[in-house]
Amino acid sequence: MNHYQVGVVIGSLRKESFNRKLADALIKMGPPEFTFKHLNISDLPLYNQDDDDHPAESVKRLKHEISEVQGLMFVTPEYNRSMPGVLKNALDHASRPYGQNAWAGKPAGVIGASIGPIATAIAQQHLRTSLAYLDVPTLCQPEAFIHVSENLFDEAGNIGNERSSKFLQSWMDRYVVWVKKHVIP
Ligand SMILES: Cc1cc2nc3c(=O)[nH]c(=O)nc-3n(C[C@H](O)[C@H](O)[C@H](O)COP(=O)(O)O)c2cc1C
Repeated sequence: MNHYQVGVVIGSLRKESFNRKLADALIKMGPPEFTFKHLNISDLPLYNQDDDDHPAESVKRLKHEISEVQGLMFVTPEYNRSMPGVLKNALDHASRPYGQNAWAGKPAGVIGASIGPIATAIAQQHLRTSLAYLDVPTLCQPEAFIHVSENLFDEAGNIGNERSSKFLQSWMDRYVVWVKKHVIP
């Protein structure tokens, strides 16, 4: 049985982040041949092109971790109708220097949760635009705009209602097929 490791990037640094909880609940829905590793983006400096020739240790670490995974999962809130700056900063860092884009070719899924009514739809669309440019094949359907309601999570951190649980399991199932189909051997 082939084994697949997925790098999980969370677009929120908040301790009680709903998106982190969503990622952790999704991870539990993955099949046995998939393992998931959170990629830390909280300690990256602000991207500055002047530093391309001498990147910070945290940037080198992130790029190395990306090189070791077969797939990517982005779980992000929406900030002011776009992706949060910390996530864009991470995308920019690992895309450079020019010609050394660490994201390239890694199959990805995009999902997000928000308390707002459109539930990260615009943030995800902006993220997809950057991922397309970065040569990241990204799962198109099902789109998953998760609205944070009172019963989204139970006390154990699992999805707390059957409807959302079924939907998220179907998202994970499609994501797994996507990664297997697009992984670079
Ligand atoms: C700076 C900022 C901007 C926000 N902008 C949006 C927005 O454009 N759309 C939206 O649905 N929610 C917006 N929110 C609300 C977030 O969806 C909410 O805070 C969410 O819980 C953040 O995700 P997290 O729990 O993973 O940190 C914003 C929150 C912050 C702090």
